[in-house]
Amino acid sequence: MPPLQLSSVASTLRAAGCVFAEDEAELILSTARTPEEAVGMVDRRVAGLPLEQVLGWAEFHGLRVTVAPGVFVPRRRTEFLVEQALALGRNASLVVDLCCGSGAVGAALAAGLRGPEVHAADIDPAAVRCARRNLAAYGGRVHEGDLFDALPEDLRGRVDILAANVPYVPTDQVALLPSEARDHEPLVALDGGPDGLDVLRRVTAEAPRWLAPGGLLLVETSERQVALAVEAFGQGGLDVRLAVSAELYANVLIGTRRQGSSQPRKSRTIASKAPGSSLPG
Ligand SMILES: C[S@@+](CC[C@H](N)C(=O)[O-])C[C@H]1O[C@@H](n2cnc3c(N)ncnc32)[C@H](O)[C@@H]1O
Repeated sequence: MPPLQLSSVASTLRAAGCVFAEDEAELILSTARTPEEAVGMVDRRVAGLPLEQVLGWAEFHGLRVTVAPGVFVPRRRTEFLVEQALALGRNASLVVDLCCGSGAVGAALAAGLRGPEVHAADIDPAAVRCARRNLAAYGGRVHEGDLFDALPEDLRGRVDILAANVPYVPTDQVALLPSEARDHEPLVALDGGPDGLDVLRRVTAEAPRWLAPGGLLLVETSERQVALAVEAFGQGGLDVRLAVSAELYANVLIGTRRQGSSQPRKSRTIASKAPGSSLPG
């Protein structure tokens, strides 16, 4: 089979509704190893799969991260969570990427820190397999299971950075997501329960027992959920601050376990400005 032409791939993609058809055509043609593979990729994109699942990779915080079919595509806005973690936890030696999906967050943290021990966990076996590929270069260990149940017991009380980009779409809004997400990413990666905060609440409730003194819990949320999410951090016994990136449309809550505390207690909300961020209102 002769190589596909950029212009014909671009017009096929444009006809299928791809807004950035030229760029996508270039990415497909530079990723496919054979014309046959390129045809298959174009077909899958025309059928509506997310571009990253078609390519088999996504760019995330300067890394090329493997994205397997059926695994949540790491979003650019989540790079803000990574930046917050790197700015505030630069001396971290033990990192956990909980609800890791592809493991993009864990890989970006491993790449940005000085050789930390990295663990990641997810309930979805496809995500676990994908994360193992992305974290292998950093010696990362990926565990399968429900939130903290998946982690080795000896991590308790030692985690310096606990990144948890949990599912946070309210159940009744999943149907409103773009088809790429709704039809090609697993429901377990999207649906956060009635108000979107079910998984977040479970994480904040248990995080203090896993964080090292001064350790950080970082969770992404939507602007609308911030007040309830802050409450959940408080109930978990964590001091919390909000970091916002208007550019990436990202809201990250950063919880801190106070020195000497391992049990939930009443929290304070700290209204200080996180590095590289602005606080709303
Ligand atoms: C929004 S995706 C985020 C994936 C990844 N952290 C990222 O930012 O690209 C949420 C992930 O949480 C996982 N997940 C959902 N519920 C879970 C649970 N109870 N325990 C562990 N993982 C869970 C899903 O399988 C999915 O991979």
